[in-house]
Amino acid sequence: MAEADRKNRELSVFQAILARRSVRTYEPRTLDITTVQTLLEAAVRAPTAMHEEPWSFVVVQDKSALKRLSDDAKPLFIERLLHAEPPTPRVLHTFNHPDFNIFHEAGTLIIIGTKMSGSFVEADCWLAAENLMLAACAMGLGSCVVGSSLSALNTPAVKAALGIPAEFKAIAPIVVGVPRGKSVATPRKKPQVLSWMFPNVGVRDVHPS
Ligand SMILES: Cc1cc2nc3c(=O)[nH]c(=O)nc-3n(C[C@H](O)[C@H](O)[C@H](O)COP(=O)(O)O)c2cc1C
Repeated sequence: MAEADRKNRELSVFQAILARRSVRTYEPRTLDITTVQTLLEAAVRAPTAMHEEPWSFVVVQDKSALKRLSDDAKPLFIERLLHAEPPTPRVLHTFNHPDFNIFHEAGTLIIIGTKMSGSFVEADCWLAAENLMLAACAMGLGSCVVGSSLSALNTPAVKAALGIPAEFKAIAPIVVGVPRGKSVATPRKKPQVLSWMFPNVGVRDVHPS
C-alpha cells in the first residue's frame, strides 16, 4: 500500500485496538526512517511512573543481522522453555527447524528496553510497546512481540554485536512491517469481573453479557 493510501486509512484508537493482531507474514521491504520515528514518537507518549521515561530503543533493519540473531536466539529459547515448562512437540519442531525465523522475516525489529532499574521500568516499557503496536496498526502496519528473542538479546555477545550498551536490558522486542495477506484474529475470553462496587448499593454480582 502506498504511503498516502496508508495515511488516508488511519484508524481511530478503538478501531486499532480491535484490529491489532500479531502479524507473522510480511512484505520483504523495510520501513523508512520517518515511519520508524513516528512509531517511536507514539511509544514515548505512554504513561510513565514518576515521569521517569526509562525507555530507550534499538532498531535493527539489517536482514542478515536479524537472521543471525534468530539463529542465536532459537537454542537459547528452547533451553529456557525446557527449564520452565515442557515445550509442546509443535513448538520444539518449529524452533528446531533451520528455516524458521523467529522474527517472521520482518525487516524491522524495534527493541524497547532500559538502562535504568526500578519497580516500574518494565511496566513503562510494555506500555510504550502497546502504544507503538497500536500506532503501527492504525498506520496499516503489522507488528508482533517476539519474546523468544529476549534471552539472546540480553547476552553480552549480542549486545556487543548490535552496539547496545552493556547496561541496557531488552524488555519488549517488536517486529514491524507491511503485512502480507490477512492475519486472523485470535479469540478473547470475556472480561472476568471479580467484584464491582456500585455507588450506594455496594457489591453486586456482575454477569457477563
Ligand atoms: C510477552 C509476549 C511475548 C510474545 N512472544 C512471541 C514470540 O516469541 N513469537 C510470536 O510469534 N508471538 C509472540 N507473542 C505474540 C502472542 O503469541 C500473541 O499476542 C497472542 O497469541 C495473541 O494473539 P494476537 O496478538 O494476534 O491477539 C508474544 C506476546 C507477548 C505479549
